[in-house]
Amino acid sequence: MNPPKVILITSGPTREFIDPIRFISNPSTGKIGYELAREARLRNYQVILISGPTGLNPPKNVRFIPVTDASQMRKMVKKMFRYADCLIMAAAVSDFRPARYNPRKIKARRNLNLKLLRNPDILKEVSIAKGRRILVGFALESGNLLRNAKLKLKNKKLDFIVANRLARGGIPFGDSRTSYLIIDKTKKVKRLKNSSKRQLAKAIFDKIGNLCNP
Ligand code: CTP
Repeated sequence: MNPPKVILITSGPTREFIDPIRFISNPSTGKIGYELAREARLRNYQVILISGPTGLNPPKNVRFIPVTDASQMRKMVKKMFRYADCLIMAAAVSDFRPARYNPRKIKARRNLNLKLLRNPDILKEVSIAKGRRILVGFALESGNLLRNAKLKLKNKKLDFIVANRLARGGIPFGDSRTSYLIIDKTKKVKRLKNSSKRQLAKAIFDKIGNLCNP
């Protein structure tokens, strides 16, 4: 595998708006993606960072593309994929979106039934055109961590996947330290115990380096 030059990173949550002031989303802070972008710049890669709303400042000297919902993220990932040698899909893309967007604020007079539609799987879609690119995905699971992560690794044609467990009572968002598994195509598993997001970012780029110089 040739060493990558341009790294495309996605980060943060997406927001799927119901009306102009309400949305469904998730608690992703975007910290992993921004740490990855910073680490990639330290290693002299060119970086394109596509991010949902996070409130974080993007690192210097990265091409920063802010997006709001999954449909915008999908459009920008597809547009930028052709320039990238490596995609790291760290975004917590909302799996569902409201079937209908109300352009006016919905009045809160009574209960509201929301119909949600499945959003397209961005990583799976672009994996069809993988070519020689390195693809890295994430999996956050509440059970069967290894089995589910391996399934995603295969289905999305990933070179490796970073998996972590949704621990009881603890949500691995923000600054908290978490344990991660890095599982590659050969089913080799590296365990990172009690790791910060900074340490995780380093381990991910070390792994990318190892894939290119085995
Ligand atoms: N992903 C994506 N597009 C989506 C959902 C997820 O590209 N609509 C990417 C994520 O960025 C992550 C990987 O796919 O890198 C796995 O995401 P995850 O939410 O764990 O898995 P899903 O495939 O959505 O499966 P499930 O939520 O049922 O576990």
